[in-house]
Amino acid sequence: MNYRLLGRSGLAVSELCLGTMTFGGATSEADSIQMMHRFFDQGGNFLDTADVYVNGRSEEIVGKAIQGRRAEVIVASKVRMKVSDDINGAGVSRKHILDGIDASLRRLNTDYIDLYQMHVWDHATPIEETLRTLDDLVSSGKVRYIGCSNYFAWQLMKSLACSDANRYIRFVSIQPQYSLVSREMDREMMSLCLEENVGVIPWAPLGGGFLTGRYSRVEPDSGRLTAKAGESSWMYRATDKNFVILDTVLQAAAELGVTPAQISLNWLLQRRGITSPIFGASTLEQFEDNMGATGWTMPQDIWSRLDEASSLPSEYPNRFIEKFKRPL
Ligand SMILES: NC(=O)c1ccc[n+]([C@@H]2O[C@H](COP(=O)([O-])OP(=O)(O)OC[C@H]3O[C@@H](n4cnc5c(N)ncnc54)[C@H](OP(=O)(O)O)[C@@H]3O)[C@@H](O)[C@H]2O)c1
Repeated sequence: MNYRLLGRSGLAVSELCLGTMTFGGATSEADSIQMMHRFFDQGGNFLDTADVYVNGRSEEIVGKAIQGRRAEVIVASKVRMKVSDDINGAGVSRKHILDGIDASLRRLNTDYIDLYQMHVWDHATPIEETLRTLDDLVSSGKVRYIGCSNYFAWQLMKSLACSDANRYIRFVSIQPQYSLVSREMDREMMSLCLEENVGVIPWAPLGGGFLTGRYSRVEPDSGRLTAKAGESSWMYRATDKNFVILDTVLQAAAELGVTPAQISLNWLLQRRGITSPIFGASTLEQFEDNMGATGWTMPQDIWSRLDEASSLPSEYPNRFIEKFKRPL
């Protein structure tokens, strides 16, 4: 396992982050705890959870797994989604963040969160209020670093500018959806993150399972993806372009003698600007498969073939700006 610095910070995180969204739901508590210990034993130190995952069960199970190993684990959690019917039970207001951190710390059975992330942009709260509150949390020791998730590039840049102007703590990372079948962040976010040295920790790096090779063009009756809602639903994943990308992944896997999941994660490990993909695994078998993405380097020609198959079409203004790039 290799380690990388998280954005403009001195925090070293493993090149793979273990997502815990299924813990206490599709993955039993016992399997979840075993998975986390196997992850730590294989060099992983980075876990991602959120207050809303399985109604707080995920944080509770993470809290159990880190007992006795707290100092070596980097725990990332999130606040912002709706946790109650109360009008202030969502968002990133000072009130909801201060209530949310205490509830998360209780569930995690710890006195600090390493990386506290804003789950999605909140149009209702001024960014100054959010960042001032996060700055207070860092001063109090309840939080060590802050990050965000599901932002437009302008929202991240506005946040960074607000931190700099007020000398508040800065976001060190962004958690966007990013994978071979979801490269929307290439429009603006990826270049912003390189420019500002913000770490990128992609969610759904396997497209929610689509990139593991278990789905074919015919909608499978028993396929788990068909039961999923939101970004990883069959409706979003099963496009003609995505099946062409999947064919390229399957071909690369056959050539290199590895699995499609390993190809998809390894491609991200070698992508400039990516810090640590956050993979999910519902079972221990899936976990072991995914961990095989580390420890080897994909030949450049195969990496480029995958890049070409999955890249966005050439668009304005990138197309125009690139055309006039000075040779400096
Ligand atoms: N910030 C956000 O808004 C946000 C949103 C979503 C997720 N996340 C984070 O990102 C993590 C990963 O997200 P994700 O679960 O959507 O990502 P993913 O890694 O793309 O997909 C994981 C799912 O794919 C299937 N799978 C994984 N490995 C497999 C293998 N080797 N062979 C066959 N199937 C395999 C499993 O689905 P089945 O259950 O169908 O078997 C598994 O639950 C989450 O745990 C969470 O921490 C964040």
